[in-house]
This record gives sequence, structure tokens and C-alpha cells, in this order.
Amino acid sequence: MSYVEIRGLSKRFDDASVFEKIDFEVERGEMCVLVGPSGCGKTTLLRAIAGLVDPDEGRIAIDGREITALPPKARGIGMVMQQYALFPNMNVEQNLSFGLEQQKVPAAEIRRRVAAMVALVGLEARAKARPHALSGGQKQRVALARALVLEPKLLLLDEPMSALDAQIRKRLRDELKRLQREIGFTAIMVTHDQEEALVLGDRIAVMQAGRLSQVGSPHKVYGAPASAEVASFIGDFNILVPAAIERVFHHRPERSWAIHPGAFEVVGFRHLNGSVSLAPERGFEADATVAGMQMLGPVIRYHLQADTIALKMDVLNKPSHGPLAPGSPLRIRLAAADVREI
Ligand SMILES: Nc1ncnc2c1ncn2[C@@H]1O[C@H](COP(=O)(O)OP(=O)(O)O)[C@@H](O)[C@H]1O
Ligand SMILES: [Mg+2]
Repeated sequence: MSYVEIRGLSKRFDDASVFEKIDFEVERGEMCVLVGPSGCGKTTLLRAIAGLVDPDEGRIAIDGREITALPPKARGIGMVMQQYALFPNMNVEQNLSFGLEQQKVPAAEIRRRVAAMVALVGLEARAKARPHALSGGQKQRVALARALVLEPKLLLLDEPMSALDAQIRKRLRDELKRLQREIGFTAIMVTHDQEEALVLGDRIAVMQAGRLSQVGSPHKVYGAPASAEVASFIGDFNILVPAAIERVFHHRPERSWAIHPGAFEVVGFRHLNGSVSLAPERGFEADATVAGMQMLGPVIRYHLQADTIALKMDVLNKPSHGPLAPGSPLRIRLAAADVREI
């Protein structure tokens, strides 16, 4: 039996289903990231786990104990939301102490736990500051520390970093991962950002239109997407349908393919080295032209046109190669191993 078990959880508002028959588990000490497009039901699912929304069907158990009918306070669940919701008239330490005081924890223990938690999130120098004097990243660290100091059985995080700018967001993301390793808390985090999901998740649950389309390790979900929807949401894959592949590549598949942009191998540029003729062997070849490019840093993403098929191709950005000019003709090859039937 897993530490957290969600079984057949469904919720409707009036006539509209928000999510249906949701099943997944989280092991103790694991960070499960729930990722999906805006409006797919992530927040409502998290609120149902917290007890803030009544599910119509299904059950939730933590550590072998069913909590489906318990009020929010009795569930031992901590929550961190996008909005920090700190107590504005209390300083950092007081924000952290409040919940422990409510639980009638002895004063000396409160002082010890709060001091340790303030140090863990690196806010010693700001311990006496009130929220208005803190940056967005610091406020979110306080919100996280305030939830963690209560040692919840399960921590729920709802897009906790989406209000922060890109750089702070990446720093806080790494910090959250470190904290999770150090403290070993169990968490379900919601995000709509696939990179955040891949970096933070021990397990990823991809949610689309109120259903979980795939649950698995980041490696699995990224490398072996279960459907075209997962492939296009998580991996930014090229999705090719049989009829198009038959026309453009020298191959006759029966099912659709998902191919990661990085899987393309450029075998030659005709304008640079004349005609390139490589036997197709086990790979599949096609002629394409460069329609556009995006500089992504470590890679350059080219948008290619191969007959009527639009393809994305990622090429390592090496200083020794200049970028390909728009209109450059090239021949691309796919290794059979990079092609996933979906
Ligand atoms: N209290 C509510 N009453 C009616 N509809 C709701 C309520 N809460 C959420 N919804 C609907 O449920 C769907 C999922 O919302 P939400 O869980 O917030 O999605 P996400 O967090 O993935 O963006 C949306 O269509 C939203 O309008
Ligand atoms: Mg939401």
C-alpha cells in the first residue's frame, strides 16, 4: 500500500465534470507533480485532497488512514498557494510560530522548530521582517516554511512559483528540491510548466481535461509519452501521422509517431557539400528546408518544412557552427530508435 492513495476521485459542479475517476499514489518522501494546461482541474483536485472541496465519488487515504470524510484541519495536510497569504502584521518568526501555538506546542519547542526552519530556508537575516518588507521569493519561502514547520503528513503546493520572475523561480525551484531531499517531506505540487514538472517531480501525473493521461517518472513521461496529447504537452514532440510519413519519409508505418525534436540528425546541407546521398539503412530520410529558427540557448530549434509536414528540430548550439539560414535545404534522418509509436 502506498503512503498516499487516491482512488476513483470525481467532482462535478452543476452539470459539468471537473475531474473524473482520478487514481494515483504517492510514496512517502516523494514529490509528485501534477502538470496540465490551465483549467484542466488541478486546483480543484488539490482542494479535494485538502478537504476544501467535497468529491462526489472516490476516496483518499494517507499513511493507511482514510481521510475522505475528515474536515480539512484534521487531515494533517499543509498547503502553499500561488498567493503567499502571509499574516501581514506578523514578522517571519511569528508567521511560522502561529500554527504551532494553535496546536499548543510548548514555547521552547516552538522557538527551536521555528529557528531551525528559518535557517533551513535561509531567512535568518530576515527573521524579524514583516511580509511587506520581503521580496516575492522571500515571501514564498516564508509560506513554504510556515507549512513545513507544522510537519504535515502531506504538503500540497498549488503553482507556488508562478507569481515570481523567471530567475527567482529557478532558484526557488532548486531550493525546494534541496529542502525536499533534506527534510524528506511528501508533496503533491501543481504546475502548468512542464520544465518545472520534469525538474521537481519524482513522479509526474499529466492531467488533461479532468483525467490523468499518464503517471510515471519524468524519464518515462518525457521519453515514452503514452499519447499524442502527453507527447505534445510534455515533450514538445513532432507528432506525425502515417499518411504524411508515407509521403515524406521512406517508410510505411501503420500508427502515428512521436519524435522528439532532438532526435533528428542532419545528414548534410546540399548547398554546403553538394548532393548528399546516404543509404536509408535503418533510419528514415527526408528532404526539408529551414522555415525559421528559435535561439533557446543550449540548442537552436529549427522549424523545418518537409513537403507538407512542419517539423521542429533541435541542434546543439556550438560556436563552431553558424546558424542555418532560412531557406537552407537539408536532408534529415531519423534513427528508428528515436521514433515512438503512439
Ligand atoms: N466552485 C466552482 N464552481 C463551478 N466551477 C468551478 C468551480 N471551481 C472550479 N470550477 C471549474 O472547474 C474547472 C477546473 O478549474 P481548476 O481546478 O481551477 O483548473 P486548473 O487549476 O487546472 O487551472 C474550470 O472549468 C473551472 O471553471
Ligand atoms: Mg489552478
